[in-house]
Amino acid sequence: MRKIELAALPGDGVGIEVVESAKDVLHTLADAHGGVEFSFTTFPWSCDYYVEHGEMMPKDAMNTLKQFEALFLGAVGNPALVPDHISLWGMLIKIRREFELSVNVRPAKRMKGIASPLANPKDFDFVVVRENSEGEYSEVGGRIHQGENEVAIQNAVFTRRATEKVLRYAFQLAEKRNSRLVSATKSNGIVHSMPFWDEVTKAVATEYPHVNVQSNHIDALAAFFVTKPSEFDVVVASNLFGDILTDVGSAIMGSIGIAPSANINLEGRYPSMFEPVHGSAPDIAGKGLANPIGQIWTAKMMLDHFGYDELGQTLLDAIEDVTESGIKTRDIGGTSTTKEVTEAIKSSILQAARV
Ligand code: NAD
Ligand code: IPM
Ligand code: MN
Repeated sequence: MRKIELAALPGDGVGIEVVESAKDVLHTLADAHGGVEFSFTTFPWSCDYYVEHGEMMPKDAMNTLKQFEALFLGAVGNPALVPDHISLWGMLIKIRREFELSVNVRPAKRMKGIASPLANPKDFDFVVVRENSEGEYSEVGGRIHQGENEVAIQNAVFTRRATEKVLRYAFQLAEKRNSRLVSATKSNGIVHSMPFWDEVTKAVATEYPHVNVQSNHIDALAAFFVTKPSEFDVVVASNLFGDILTDVGSAIMGSIGIAPSANINLEGRYPSMFEPVHGSAPDIAGKGLANPIGQIWTAKMMLDHFGYDELGQTLLDAIEDVTESGIKTRDIGGTSTTKEVTEAIKSSILQAARV
């Protein structure tokens, strides 16, 4: 029996509710199918923790987390208690950067029983590969002067190493899928980083001659996600562009509450981190209304990461079995609670295991 040691970081708001759901579902899945066991150690690091301790995580947190095989995170942020740039840079972004989680993989596809807000959506199934450690998310810059003359400067940082890394990952993923890659650029308006991004894209493309690669400006691309999502296979984007595109991808699926993501350390030096695309949703937190599917689908990505692809597929089938049956939270047009959806997914897993 393989036992996988995981750190659970529920974080804030609905993160706490949906991590609980997904853990419950994972345990049910493992019990029903055998061969693997998930052991979770839960850490209470969050904005509440910050209010009590003056920091998002203890000083030795990264050393503690390094011991685990993967991290399972809910969401971080409670702007009513702690400014977002402090909570996020103190935890989520800190982990992504220090554990060299260079790529953020975010799939989007039409799901059974979930209505897309698009009028006539064809089926779509694509993956956004987002650079996850640098780019527009940078500490370089500052504020100068005061009053009317005040200036805030925010520099984007694009290293050749990280840019090549995310592009290679995207090309390799495209090779495994339908060999079509779209690169998000903005070299018409951003004069240093984006021409560099395009140059590296062209150079890396020569290593993958079978992949059809095309560049789209980010503004047009965001619109294409709405007007013709079925044309995409793999999309590669810098950190901020990928962030925005994946909220659009979630929206066309039906809700940000169902979108999963994986932050991968490609070298295997540090644990990868699995978290949904959505945030802590302060507007619905604590009410039992959160959609747990984003977190549960995220658990499927974690299963794939550990090579349990079949279990991952079983989990995705159970999710769709439940959405198709109409047991859905409010954000996707239903009336069910987080708990009801969670229980329905567990029942579907158990039923499938019996036949
Ligand atoms: P959000 O994703 O939390 O919420 C956006 C909208 O989506 C809200 O209307 C919310 O109710 C809804 N929503 C989100 N998750 C849902 C779910 N599981 N079920 C049903 N509805 C859901 O984004 P925001 O409002 O911009 O941010 C809120 C806080 O979360 C901020 O502090 C932000 O910085 C943080 N945040 C954290 C992460 C993360 O930790 N990975 C990601 C995004 C935002
Ligand atoms: C995400 C979130 C984060 C990001 C925020 C909370 C810093 O929006 O994971 O998509 O921008 O990466
Ligand atoms: Mn985001």
